[in-house]
Amino acid sequence: MCGIVGYLGNKNTTKILLEGLKELEYRGYDSAGLALLNGEDIEVYKALGKLENLREKTKNILNNSFELGIGHTRWATHGKPTELNAHPHSGQYSYIVHNGIIENYKEIKDSLLLQGHKFISQTDTEVIVHLFENINNKINDPKQAFKDTISKLKGAFSILLVTKADPNKIYFFKNGSPLIVAKGNEKQEFLFASSDAPLIGLAQNAIYLEDGVGGVVSKEELEIFSDNYIWSILPTSKQFAQKNGHRFFMEKEIYEQGDVVSDCMLGRVKDNEINFDEIDSSILDGINEIKICACGTSYHASMASAYLFERLSKIRCNVEIASEFRYKEPLLTNDTLFIVVSQSGETADTLEALKMAKNAGLKTLVVCNVNNSSMTRVANNTILTRAGIEKGVASTKAFSTQTVVLWMLSLYFAKIKSSLSKELLQKEIQALSQVPKVLVVNNKLHEKTRRLSKRYLHGHGFFFIGRDVFYPLALEGALKLKEISYLHAEGYPSGEMKHGPIALADPELFTIALMPKNSLYEKVKSNVEELSARDSTICSISPLHFELSDDFIKTNDRDHYMLEFFEMLVVLQLLSMEISIRLGNDVDMPRNLAKSVTVE
Ligand code: M6R
Repeated sequence: MCGIVGYLGNKNTTKILLEGLKELEYRGYDSAGLALLNGEDIEVYKALGKLENLREKTKNILNNSFELGIGHTRWATHGKPTELNAHPHSGQYSYIVHNGIIENYKEIKDSLLLQGHKFISQTDTEVIVHLFENINNKINDPKQAFKDTISKLKGAFSILLVTKADPNKIYFFKNGSPLIVAKGNEKQEFLFASSDAPLIGLAQNAIYLEDGVGGVVSKEELEIFSDNYIWSILPTSKQFAQKNGHRFFMEKEIYEQGDVVSDCMLGRVKDNEINFDEIDSSILDGINEIKICACGTSYHASMASAYLFERLSKIRCNVEIASEFRYKEPLLTNDTLFIVVSQSGETADTLEALKMAKNAGLKTLVVCNVNNSSMTRVANNTILTRAGIEKGVASTKAFSTQTVVLWMLSLYFAKIKSSLSKELLQKEIQALSQVPKVLVVNNKLHEKTRRLSKRYLHGHGFFFIGRDVFYPLALEGALKLKEISYLHAEGYPSGEMKHGPIALADPELFTIALMPKNSLYEKVKSNVEELSARDSTICSISPLHFELSDDFIKTNDRDHYMLEFFEMLVVLQLLSMEISIRLGNDVDMPRNLAKSVTVE
């Protein structure tokens, strides 16, 4: 995923920027670049591939006297990974680095083309710097031109812009993607980064910019165009910085789901259409059925997607646990598209299932987070989830990105097969586009789960119940809780209670009921009433108040069940984590578990 760094001060700018980019390397990237300025002298360096290539290109200028510079690592979204598409992008006299996506870049670009602007890249970023110059050429006021530019952009964008029209300054703005500005340890020194790791050791005080906040900095002054900011103390340890100030990697990963899902959708959802550059639409030729194999959390994401493939793409879909699939002597026919879903791409059972399908001549596709993993090397097609490295053993952002990829895929298939009306397809895409916002952790909600967690540290078990896609979500909620709290938890379809599990109901059985407004609310309600009548302790998660709840976590009133799904997902993740913390467990490395299961 993309990374941003910026520096203004008296030290070796090139070295600081390269070291900063190195700290962001773990996020993944396919090209990198720098723009270095000294007054009106500007030098730009770009390289494809690893940072070493950029370092090589800049090695002769390592003892330079550039007063400021901006740097970027790019993960290709709009346009292929090429040097031309690498950042910084330039106009006639200005340079920009950008994280995020400009949703209205096409309209802006068309209008600028008519006014004579020439573009050399395929990126959405290049339009920002041209728009800035277009406005500045008219008003000759770079600060106002920057503000006017920002006001015309839609989407997610964190940017640093430098311009010969106002040399020795860095303009910055944050919206959606993260951006931090820090006061350096030396006098007249300022630094920027898209996460705090590059700043550790170089600065102590920083502003974690809020959405909609920007400004301009020179050696003499930092001006923020808003009152909405506070100075924070940066962490001193890199390990802590890697957690972005969170207590655990799991917490950090829950909190970054909004951002990684945005990354995951970049270039795939645009202009109200779904596109996957990495697969060909002929993938569905001759296909009548989808079979998905996976394990654990990835299996739950796959289960949820089976509802979507049948409902939206109108393709028969069934999902199997990979370890079961391998030994059942499955009937494999080549009208089946065989999909495996895996965070690591290394899980032994899933990998073997994939090999079996491939050997039987089926078309194969892997939905995976790790490029160049074993599964991506075996499968005919790969879709990367772009979640970034997941360190917590309990998967969180892997699940949300997998589910989003599979939802997008079901809509892409619906488009190919014309299985949905235009209006319905648009409605789905509209809802999908809102997922990143829905995943942003609401502080009040987090606090509520923290307070509630103290009541759920004992008991003889937990039932997580839901219907439709909320059934796999219930399974995932139960898995999260048992993995890190070591409490017994099971997920059930809520309609199944009366067929056996309800025999366990008593006050020491905790029911976590997923009660979305937009999917079978009345049906789930009856199932929860049955449990309540048998004295089970009920914690309901719903936008609608439910009078029989012992505890109630109110979610927002949303107009699509999948948006409720993602909001409830965050609640379940936070609740498990808070219970685990209270129990004093190792949240990130739970007992008996490994991050990647490469044995059967
Ligand atoms: O890397 P994979 O997605 O193939 O891993 C599959 C499971 O081992 C994994 O999802 C596991 O269940 C997680 N620890 C759950 O949090």
